[in-house]
Amino acid sequence: MTVTYDLIIKGGTVVNHDGEGIRDIAIAAGRIAAIGTLANAKAASTIEARGLHILPGVIDSQVHFREPGLEHKEDLLTGSRAAVAGGVTAVFEMPNTKPLTTSAEMLADKVRRAQNRMFCDFAFFVGGTRDNVADIPALERLEGSAGIKVFMGSSTGDLLVDDEPTLEAIIATLSRRASFHAEDEARLKSRMHLRRAGDPSSHPEWRDVEAALIATKRLVGLAEKHRKRVHVLHISTGDEIAFLGNHKAYASVEVTPHHLTLVSPDCYERLGAYAQMNPPVRDAAHRAAIWHGIENGIVDVLGSDHAPHLREEKDHAYPDTHSGMTGVQTLVPIMLDHVNAGRLSLRRLVDLTSHGPQRIFGIVGKGRIAVGYDADLTVVDMKRQRTISNSWIESRCGWTPYDGVSVTGWPVGTFVRGKHVMWEGEISSPAAGEPVRFLEASARA
Ligand code: DOR
Repeated sequence: MTVTYDLIIKGGTVVNHDGEGIRDIAIAAGRIAAIGTLANAKAASTIEARGLHILPGVIDSQVHFREPGLEHKEDLLTGSRAAVAGGVTAVFEMPNTKPLTTSAEMLADKVRRAQNRMFCDFAFFVGGTRDNVADIPALERLEGSAGIKVFMGSSTGDLLVDDEPTLEAIIATLSRRASFHAEDEARLKSRMHLRRAGDPSSHPEWRDVEAALIATKRLVGLAEKHRKRVHVLHISTGDEIAFLGNHKAYASVEVTPHHLTLVSPDCYERLGAYAQMNPPVRDAAHRAAIWHGIENGIVDVLGSDHAPHLREEKDHAYPDTHSGMTGVQTLVPIMLDHVNAGRLSLRRLVDLTSHGPQRIFGIVGKGRIAVGYDADLTVVDMKRQRTISNSWIESRCGWTPYDGVSVTGWPVGTFVRGKHVMWEGEISSPAAGEPVRFLEASARA
């Protein structure tokens, strides 16, 4: 019997949980319907992928898309265009918007805004605060909820939990894994005088290793005490990697492409405040230790922490400059270049960007290429050489710290639930992103 599918992607090298191999992938009704040699199968359309690698869709579990309230920097439409242009099929977006995303109403508002405007699938974190602890069980279960996010140190926006009783109350209440920005606010406050006017290289001196380590230790101690799952975002120090390596039971670990790629003092000399992030980019020893965390399995996921700010907001004199840089569009090409340079395998990259998010966040039907799963695919050309440029950037702020950087390895196609939303740089309308579904939330099955 000849089966007819909607689409067959032929002859690509599929990189998946079972290794790498040349396979055809058949798609029907937005899901993967068959994998293998499908010579006799028929499909409404066929894409020839010989010579290309097909990865499970890349899930970026940390982006700031700024809507509502900060749309001069980014919005859900422009941010999701940047995502699919860079090969990302789903994003988890952060709650430091204006107003803050801290209630069921604000979450529902974001989900409503995302419909028909986001090109990739999406989920939104809800900010944990002093005032919404009692609501957490309900907030974790709403459609489109990526769970709870807590800022332990202040960064962009007003979300902050800087006292241990509130932090403990939030952790004790959790049922899903929650995500944390771990920098110790008291230490940050006590060291503000270390910021040197006009010198962003003093950013990591102010927000030092100890500030990150104190907060990460406090967080993990509370997680272990209450036996709750926590996700420590954007690890920037070797000290935290070493600590977390001994505390993997309840804590999962995210690192970012910028902490793996940029290095102090070079980044501050070249990019000034455009390299300013929280937590900061640090020196070569910390960068090497984070790579070590990737090699030995301590790191669970890669997130871009895409945090756009306008050039005007970056062009003040430090410290009157905003912390954050774009990253959702450059995550895949920057990491493919690292793969080509031999720093990690393509399979480990897939583990960090697809299997890892599925495992730690309990995502339904995404994160691997398997029959019955959503047909989310990131198609890459491992041999293509390109120079990243500001003109390629879809983000409203229009810049990347990698402007002028040449890479080998490039995203050529993005499929979200079987629809190609990007092919060879062209983004296809309409925007049809849907909420990501989670095992522990009540979203549609
Ligand atoms: O540098 C940062 N910028 N770190 C964060 O945690 C927040 C982000 C932002 O929203 O701009």
